[in-house]
Amino acid sequence: MTDIRFDNRVAIVTGAGGGLGRSHALLLASRGARVVVNDLGGSVDGSGSGATRAADQVVQEIRAAGGEAVASYDGVDQAESAARIVKTAVDAFGKLDIVINNAGILRDVSFMKMTGDDWEKVLRVHLYGSMYVSQAAWPELRKNGYGRLVFTTSAAGLYGNFGQANYSSAKLGIVGLAKTLAHEGQKYGILSNVIAPIAKSRMTETVMPPEMLEKLSPEFVSPVVGYLSSERCGDTAQIYAVGGGYVSRVAIVEGEGVGFKGALTVEGLAERWAEVNDLSRARPMANATEAAGQAVRVALSS
Ligand code: NAI
Repeated sequence: MTDIRFDNRVAIVTGAGGGLGRSHALLLASRGARVVVNDLGGSVDGSGSGATRAADQVVQEIRAAGGEAVASYDGVDQAESAARIVKTAVDAFGKLDIVINNAGILRDVSFMKMTGDDWEKVLRVHLYGSMYVSQAAWPELRKNGYGRLVFTTSAAGLYGNFGQANYSSAKLGIVGLAKTLAHEGQKYGILSNVIAPIAKSRMTETVMPPEMLEKLSPEFVSPVVGYLSSERCGDTAQIYAVGGGYVSRVAIVEGEGVGFKGALTVEGLAERWAEVNDLSRARPMANATEAAGQAVRVALSS
């Protein structure tokens, strides 16, 4: 199989000063992409900024290995600064092809104790940040007639997790955003997919045992980002769980459903509740229209 390369492609990786983003940026650059290494700096909970060294260091690593990169210190969480990240790519390299929405923070706290600020800050960086950067990038990708968007969700978003009401809401919101952009982007050659990673980083080093973390290097995640960012990839609107060498498609599925004759009563529903819950013949839906189509078909045929 021929090598998958990114010569003549320009990529933005947000939150690329460390962890997964750094690894994604190094992989893309090692295969010829010109990369904007974006990172605001700051701590895991999003406080502080201006620690530009993280992005600079990754740029230096890329250049030392013979690659091309520039640093960007703008936050993804405001429309104006997100637009500056895209401008950095266009000013430095003349265009933009690939956007890896990776930047993130944590404010883990039980729902009872979660403040408005905990909610707002986390949604702002993950969900608004992914939207702002993608929206600023969109005209550039459309202009190319080509684009690759990779978003970052989490098992917490897909399945829920104790103490992460803010984070899981943001992360599942990202799935909705990515899927809609997949539909809107398809006719312009823009593909949009999502990864749900597991990796060793400063975000996980306090919540996972060291022996597990050792097996979860970010380098096991980045090849999936590389593939989804490549011309070889033809899939869109998909979610992939990835970590430590494990890669699996994840899907939101809908069962075959039950059509109720006449009026739907509470008792009638209770009687057939097991059938309603049966996912043995469940399948993913290509889009909202297909899902609505099944509902209407089953309802009308009952
Ligand atoms: P990390 O903390 O090493 O990386 C996140 C980076 O985003 C940091 O370098 C941080 O400075 C940067 N950042 C934060 N706010 C920013 C902003 N407003 N603008 C620009 N950059 C900003 O953590 P990690 O683990 O590498 O996380 C990367 C992504 O992967 C995040 O979206 C995270 O939620 C997601 N993720 C990670 C998992 C893991 O197991 N490490 C699990 C599931 C999801």
